[in-house]
Amino acid sequence: MAHAGELAGGNFRARLAVTGGSEFGQLSRHINDTAANLQRTVEQLQLEHSELERLERIRKDFVINVSHELRTPLASIQGYTETLLDGALADPQYNMRFLGIIRHNAERLARLTEDLLTLSRVEQKRQKLEFEPHSIGGLIEESMDLVRPIAAKSSIRLETELDAATPEVWCDGEAVSQILSNLLDNAIKYTPAGGSIVAGAYPAGRFVEVFVRDSGAGIPAEDLPRLFERFYRVDKARSRELGGTGLGLSIVKHLVGAHNGTVRVESRVQEGSTFFFTLPAEEAALPKETAVAVSAICTNNATIGEVRAS
Ligand SMILES: Nc1ncnc2c1ncn2[C@@H]1O[C@H](COP(=O)(O)OP(=O)(O)OP(=O)(O)O)[C@@H](O)[C@H]1O
Ligand SMILES: [Mg+2]
Repeated sequence: MAHAGELAGGNFRARLAVTGGSEFGQLSRHINDTAANLQRTVEQLQLEHSELERLERIRKDFVINVSHELRTPLASIQGYTETLLDGALADPQYNMRFLGIIRHNAERLARLTEDLLTLSRVEQKRQKLEFEPHSIGGLIEESMDLVRPIAAKSSIRLETELDAATPEVWCDGEAVSQILSNLLDNAIKYTPAGGSIVAGAYPAGRFVEVFVRDSGAGIPAEDLPRLFERFYRVDKARSRELGGTGLGLSIVKHLVGAHNGTVRVESRVQEGSTFFFTLPAEEAALPKETAVAVSAICTNNATIGEVRAS
């Protein structure tokens, strides 16, 4: 009887003593089964609850990060505008310099909002991807050509390394160009003059694995697990100096995910980093239409659009 009281009080771990095959015994067994089911349900709900708490924490961190990232350039624009209005405008020694700083910070704000919008579009799966067969070698070459002048300025060598057996990939060409340009942009930013960058691809089962390898600064092992998080930067000050907001890799991760692919990184400090991502080599390895629609609904409350609305 004491056990029945515990069950009624919410302790679903308590069990009744089952005595024989009498009706009473059977009833006890039923109650015990029900208690076991309830226990499982409670545990499931607890799991879901802590997942919701985790998402809520991520959302709050995100709002704090965005506010912080917006505040710094805005404060600078405000400060220098006031200084100019207070008289510096007439001072030929400073006025152009201050205007330059204002423009620099305005550009930074523009880039930040652009990246946030891209991330939000990809996360909410609003960016309609059109999957078609593409030559990955062609896409790599195109992206390389775009950054060639920037690399040349830093005396960085660019090479491609394409396995001859690499099949065509099923992808959205625009999205893959965006992935590659983010990775190449990083490789160039974090590689000192005289270094080299190699991009290529090879077959990997039903997928093709693409890589971008640099001979640059490398990333400490303890930073690697968090690298693809929004706003995560190894050296905040240095990244900001280079115009970074720490959104590039999270955009990469989402775009690759939208192709059913995965991202990973290998790196050694002082030796360099290699970023890898996979793309489907056959149409059947692409995300299923229905799966995409369902996951879009499920992830909706963790998206930027929602964050903004609150
Ligand atoms: N190839 C690389 N070598 C060394 N560190 C890297 C490399 N790529 C990325 N990182 C580190 O990972 C961080 C996150 O990269 P991510 O591309 O997300 O941001 P970012 O380049 O700083 O800014 P953004 O891409 O938004 O302009 C960088 O700040 C840098 O510390
Ligand atoms: Mg970047």
